[in-house]
Amino acid sequence: MAEQPIRLLIVDDIQSTRDNLRKLLSFEDDIEVVGTAGDGKEGVEEAQRLHPDIVLTDVNMPLMDGIQLTEQLTQDLPGSPVIIMSVQGERDYLRRAMQAGAREFLIKPFSHDELVAAIRRVYAMEVKKGTFLTRTAEAPPAAATSGRFGLGEVFVVFSAKGGVGKSIIAANLAVALARETDARVALVDLDLQFGDIGVMLNLNHSRSITDVVDAQDHLDAEILDDILAVGPAGVRVLLAPVKPELADLVTPDHVRTVFAEVRKVCDFVVVDASSHLGEAILQVMEIASKILVVTGLTIPSVKNARLTLGVLESLNIDPERVLLVVNRVDGYSDFNKEATEQYLRVPVAVQIPHDPKAVSDAWNQGKPFVETQPEAEISRAIRELVFRLVPQEQPAVVGGDRKRRRGIFGR
Ligand SMILES: Nc1ncnc2c1ncn2[C@@H]1O[C@H](COP(=O)(O)OP(=O)(O)O)[C@@H](O)[C@H]1O
Ligand SMILES: [Mg+2]
Repeated sequence: MAEQPIRLLIVDDIQSTRDNLRKLLSFEDDIEVVGTAGDGKEGVEEAQRLHPDIVLTDVNMPLMDGIQLTEQLTQDLPGSPVIIMSVQGERDYLRRAMQAGAREFLIKPFSHDELVAAIRRVYAMEVKKGTFLTRTAEAPPAAATSGRFGLGEVFVVFSAKGGVGKSIIAANLAVALARETDARVALVDLDLQFGDIGVMLNLNHSRSITDVVDAQDHLDAEILDDILAVGPAGVRVLLAPVKPELADLVTPDHVRTVFAEVRKVCDFVVVDASSHLGEAILQVMEIASKILVVTGLTIPSVKNARLTLGVLESLNIDPERVLLVVNRVDGYSDFNKEATEQYLRVPVAVQIPHDPKAVSDAWNQGKPFVETQPEAEISRAIRELVFRLVPQEQPAVVGGDRKRRRGIFGR
């Protein structure tokens, strides 16, 4: 039984029906009728004002019927799921109601027990799905409610300086994520002018993010499936345009569309960014659960990391969502870990060693180093990063016999 009562809004054009329902439900401790409305339009207004846990609505009503009300609430107030009531003979409504997003369909006359059971069932279902997370006092930020509950979690690899290892880290991270978890992983190359994920992973694939631009109005999972390349460990890769001059064709709106679609079909999306803080990457950062700020231990690199952290702070990005990753760690740098933390006032999440041999061997083979040298320190560091991003996954030996899902479309 719910600790807080289930807050219900009743929408019906017949006053006596509303009164009867209210009376029926008054015996239930776990259900509270917080409001009533006499037509669909008023129902929407009341739902927007009251944010009920469940809306119980009739189908046939003046001004706006129950189906339209359901459509609107499904779109605008997904936290207020709808139960539709209809009389016998209106069975065609069942299909339309479900298409509109109704969670249950009650045929009148229904018993008190049927009604209460339906309300509790819908509520329990939504609790399970996490719909009501935002209701609790310690509601996590919007980004944190993504991931396992529905849309894929986004991890952005960023640095305001080029050449610090963003692409290398993004590519290896995506592959390690796919290997260590049984998740569906996508890698999106958002370095639109000079993206090099395709070369790094030796992907012979003619399609790229510019194909998303062409398909903008009818992009769906199937079209996306053709556009994405298949990389190591089944990671699906959205490549950058083949020529730098095509980058301008990709607008922030296109990028939004890409993420809306990719997140529907995968659990994790790793983003390799350019060093430019433009609108496109900023909107991706907004939806990201973690932003990995990469820095080297050189003076210019750490200086730029400080500027980057300052920008993220001014964007009101929760510091909890920012992970500082130090790359190319060796004994000869301008800074060490402690000095970096002191200067940046942010803890270092993971240190990735400088390993020119592992990196160039991998480049030469067109494979990520987590595959060519899984036991090297540099690969262990990437797996540590996986563990930081997806804490419930214990780092495991690469190549273990755990069952994995192949591809992101479950084929
Ligand atoms: N940990 C490392 N050890 C050795 N070389 C590295 C390491 N990280 C990056 N590099 C080198 O630095 C170069 C730049 O890395 P890249 O990932 O392309 O940076 P970015 O995407 O930030 O511009 C790569 O060609 C690679 O050879
Ligand atoms: Mg790069």
